[in-house]
Amino acid sequence: MSNTAYVGLLGRGAVGDAFHDLLADRADAVEEATGRRPEISGVLTSKKGSFDEILAASDVIVELIGGTDPARDYVTRALRSGRDVVTANKQLIAQHGDELAEAAREGGAELRFEAAVAGAIPVIRVVKESLGTIEIEKVFGIVNGTTNYILTEMARTGASYDSALKRAQELGYAEADPTDDVNGADAAAKMAILARLAFGSPVTLEHVEYEGIEEISSDDLSYAKELGLSLKLLGVAERRGEGALSIRVFPCFLYPGHPLAPVEGAFNAVMVEAPAIREITMSGPGAGGIETATAVLGDVVSVLAGGSPLGEASGKVKIAKDISSAFYLHLEVEDRPGVLAKVAEILGENEVSVRSVVQHGLGADARLVMVMHEVEEKRFKAALSKLGKLKFMRSAPRSIRVIEEEFK
Ligand code: HSE
Repeated sequence: MSNTAYVGLLGRGAVGDAFHDLLADRADAVEEATGRRPEISGVLTSKKGSFDEILAASDVIVELIGGTDPARDYVTRALRSGRDVVTANKQLIAQHGDELAEAAREGGAELRFEAAVAGAIPVIRVVKESLGTIEIEKVFGIVNGTTNYILTEMARTGASYDSALKRAQELGYAEADPTDDVNGADAAAKMAILARLAFGSPVTLEHVEYEGIEEISSDDLSYAKELGLSLKLLGVAERRGEGALSIRVFPCFLYPGHPLAPVEGAFNAVMVEAPAIREITMSGPGAGGIETATAVLGDVVSVLAGGSPLGEASGKVKIAKDISSAFYLHLEVEDRPGVLAKVAEILGENEVSVRSVVQHGLGADARLVMVMHEVEEKRFKAALSKLGKLKFMRSAPRSIRVIEEEFK
């Protein structure tokens, strides 16, 4: 066997370009680590190249096109034909993981996707391999660099949402179409992958309930500052008893002592909790061309050396209901006697307890910013819906979850 490993590259976006250069730059190191010297056998872009020709000329396919179509077809065909595949494609793994695992089995090939979750942080290896046999209870964190960059810039410099998003695109953090970043779908796909690996359950994107940051306003960030909180888009996957799981993505406030509170800019951080390890926090660059390309290169080295992480996932996924959370609530109300009492009455009737409250005058109106203690989400939503109908309410109530968990 020739000692050359032919690598077919699909996609030349920010990560594809960075990987192309990194592979040439690190070829000696890869050869030293694996005994095989990597060489690009062909590059497919939307404008040039033939997938069939590249497939025929390659030992390994690196898929950096993104999206499910045509990536799904290319990756499936490559695996069935026995080529190992490395991908950074979270939507593909989150939506079609079972089908790809089957294609890999059929072809006796490996599929690796370290770069699909949290960029340069080797979180897939840690969850699937290092912690693969302990009972993981919860995996959670900041898994989208674009939104963390936007929220950090809005809080730090007062930048508008639009200008922070534009800058994140210029820096190569955002997806080609940033809709999935800001609406939470990118983070949801990553959480589906982490949940599948952590719990050995066939979780897909469909099992994840998600919200993004499109509704966040600079007001929310200034009130956060006043209350000493930071705002993050969090992904949380956890066991909820009786075999049920909860996998969600939502914006939320964190108290300053929380390990995720200081994670800023395009950095990501993932925490894993299990009785055997208490907790592990991994943080690092979660987006960006060269950062993500390092994870792709690490997978290429692994496939040249052997061992797939997708593994078996079995059983039926049972999603937990009756989740409890703490909430921040932002109300604009008429400033007259009885208003605060009515708000308190509705909260009380629904067993929602207030932890702190700040009131600001706005002429004849007032802005109430409250933080609630943890409560069943359905109770809080019922209160919110009643509050929204009150005559003295000046605009629709706004709410964001708050993480109260304390870490020592
Ligand atoms: N668009 C993604 C992010 C890139 O912002 O996190 C890494 O998956």
